[in-house]
Amino acid sequence: MSSPLRTSALSSISSFRRPQPFPKKCQNTCSVGKPRVCFVGRLPPCKATINSDQNPSNQDPRAPHVGKILDRRNVLIGLGAGGLYGAAGLDPSPFAFADPIPPPDIDTCTETTDPKIPTQECCPQKPDKIKIIDFQLPASQPAILRKRRAAQDAAKDRVYVANYKEAIRRMKSLDINDPRSFWSQANVHCAYCEGSYHYGEKKLEIQVHSSWLFYPFHRMYLYFYERILASLIKERDPNFALPFWNWDAPEGMYMPTIFEEDGVINPLYDPYRNDKHRRPGRIVDLNYGLGMDNNTRDTDTIEKYNLFTMHNKMLSGARWDWCLFFGHPYRAGDNPNPGAGNIELVPHNTVHDWTGTTQDSTQGGVDMGIFYSAGRDPVFYAHHANVDRMWYLWKNRFGGKDIKDLDWLDTEFLFYDENKQLMRVKVRDSLDTALLGYEYQSVEIPWIDDNFKPTARFPTNKTKPQVLFTEHHTKFPFTWDSTISVEVARPVPRRRSDSEKAKQQEVLVVGGIGFPANESVKFDVYVNDDADSPSGLDKSEFAGSFVHIPHRHKEKIQTKLTLGITQLLEDLRAEEDSSVVVTLVPRVGIGKVTLSCITIELSACPNQAL
Ligand code: C2O
Repeated sequence: MSSPLRTSALSSISSFRRPQPFPKKCQNTCSVGKPRVCFVGRLPPCKATINSDQNPSNQDPRAPHVGKILDRRNVLIGLGAGGLYGAAGLDPSPFAFADPIPPPDIDTCTETTDPKIPTQECCPQKPDKIKIIDFQLPASQPAILRKRRAAQDAAKDRVYVANYKEAIRRMKSLDINDPRSFWSQANVHCAYCEGSYHYGEKKLEIQVHSSWLFYPFHRMYLYFYERILASLIKERDPNFALPFWNWDAPEGMYMPTIFEEDGVINPLYDPYRNDKHRRPGRIVDLNYGLGMDNNTRDTDTIEKYNLFTMHNKMLSGARWDWCLFFGHPYRAGDNPNPGAGNIELVPHNTVHDWTGTTQDSTQGGVDMGIFYSAGRDPVFYAHHANVDRMWYLWKNRFGGKDIKDLDWLDTEFLFYDENKQLMRVKVRDSLDTALLGYEYQSVEIPWIDDNFKPTARFPTNKTKPQVLFTEHHTKFPFTWDSTISVEVARPVPRRRSDSEKAKQQEVLVVGGIGFPANESVKFDVYVNDDADSPSGLDKSEFAGSFVHIPHRHKEKIQTKLTLGITQLLEDLRAEEDSSVVVTLVPRVGIGKVTLSCITIELSACPNQAL
C-alpha cells in the first residue's frame, strides 16, 4: 500500500505537494456493521520534529547554525506545497538563532498574576547590586556523600525526621525577602515556569518544563534547596539530605506519612492537598488525571498498572533515546514547550495532579496541582527527588548517556545558595550527582522485572482496525473533543535488525497540540486497538499519555507528544505493516485541545552509547 502519510526526512516533501486520500478500500469498510474505529481523514504528518531535534552540534559549537539553514529550506519547500507545515503550528520560528538559553535577567522579571487571584509574587526580591558568581564543582567527590533515602524508610529514623521538620520550620520562619526562605524558594519555581523570566532583546519566555531542561533545572533547584536546609540545621545534621518519594515501588505508592502525620503542626504538612488522597491506604495512581477519582480500578490494579508504566517509561519506551528520556531540544529562539520526555509527562505530571487537586477534584489545582504554587508543598521536593533518581538510575544503573549537545550543556540558570549568594549554574554542572555530593539509597526496583513488560491484547489478530476515510477535517489545527483514530504510515515497513532498533527508536509524534496554559489536559494514545473499548494499561496497544499540569497564566501552549513504539510494534507483530491505526482518547480538558498532525518517524535522537 502506498500511503500519502509515509514520511522520512526528505521523501515526505513530495507528499506535501499532492496530499492524497487514503486508498479507496478504507472508505467502504466501516459502513457495514459496527465500525471498530472512529475517524479523521488526512491528519498531516508532523514535519518539523525531525528538523528541530537534529543535533549536529556534538562536535562543533557552530554547526547548529548550518543545520538550521538547511532545515529552513526544507520548511520553505513544505510551505510552498500547500502550507501544511505552517498549519502544523510547530516551532513558529525556530531558526532565528540557535544558542543555549541564557540565564534570566532578574531585573526584568515580570509578574504574570492572574487579575482574579490576589497578587502572589513570583519574582525574587531585586537586590541593589546583583553580583553573580559562577558555580564551581569540586575536582573530586567529597568523602561523605549525602544519602537521599526513600521517605518510607527515612520515616523510621525519628532523629532524621525531627531534623527535617526543624529545618523546614526554620526555613519557613525566615523573612520572606530572604532568598533562602520557604516562600522565596517556592517562588524560584514559580518564576521559571510561569513566564516571569525572559532573555534576549525580544524578551522571549524562559520555561523549564516540556523540554530537555526539565531534569537539569530541577536537579540544581533541589541541590540548592537541600544545601539551604542543611545549613539551617548544621549543628544537628550538616549532611542532611532530602528524602525521595518512592512512588515507583509498592511500599512507596502512598502519600508519605512524614508529610501528613500530626496535621497542621507538622512543618511538612500542607492543607492544600487532595483530601481523598492523603488518607492512609490511598494508592497513588501514576496514570491519574484531574477528576478521575471515581474510576473503578481497585488498589491491586492501580499498583500493577503503576509498575507496567514504570517499566514502559524507563525501559521499553525509552531505550536510550535521549529525546524520549530528557525531552526535546530547546535552544535560544525556540518555542518554549518543544515537548516533554517520558517521565516528565508520566508519572511526574500525574503525581502533581494526584497530590494537588482540590477536594472534589474537579475544580482544578492547588499547590502541587498548579505550577506557580507547586513549590509551596514540602512534598514537591520529595517528589522531585524521585524524578531526579530516575535520571540517576538511567545513567548509573541502566547505562544511559547524557546529551552531548553544547546548547544543552551550556544552558545557564540562576539560584541563590545557602549564603544568599546568587550563583550561575550550567547544565554541565548538573550531570554527576557524586560531584554534587549526594547519592540515592539503593532500594528494590520492582518494575525492572520482565513480568511488567506489556503484552499484546490481540497477539494473533492480524486484522487491522478499520478506518473510515472522511474529509471532516481539512483545516489544521482542529479542535478535538471525542475519540479519534487515524491511519498513520510507517517510515520503514520491514523488520529492522536488533542493532538498528537499539540505535534508533521508531517514534509516534502527535504534533501541534495547542491549549490554554491554565487548563488541565490528559489524553491517551493506543495503537491498533479497539477504539470502542481501549485496552488496559498493561497491554502493548496502550502507547502512552499526554498530561499537562495547569499554569496560572492563560497563554496558549503549543507542544508535541512523542512516544517510542519500537517494542510496541514488535509485540503487535506490526513491524512489516506499512501503516498502523492510532487512536487518541481525550480524558481531561475535552474540547479545549487542538491538534495539527501525526507522524511515525525514526527518532532524530539516536542512542549515544552506540
Ligand atoms: Cu517544575 Cu514538578 O515541576
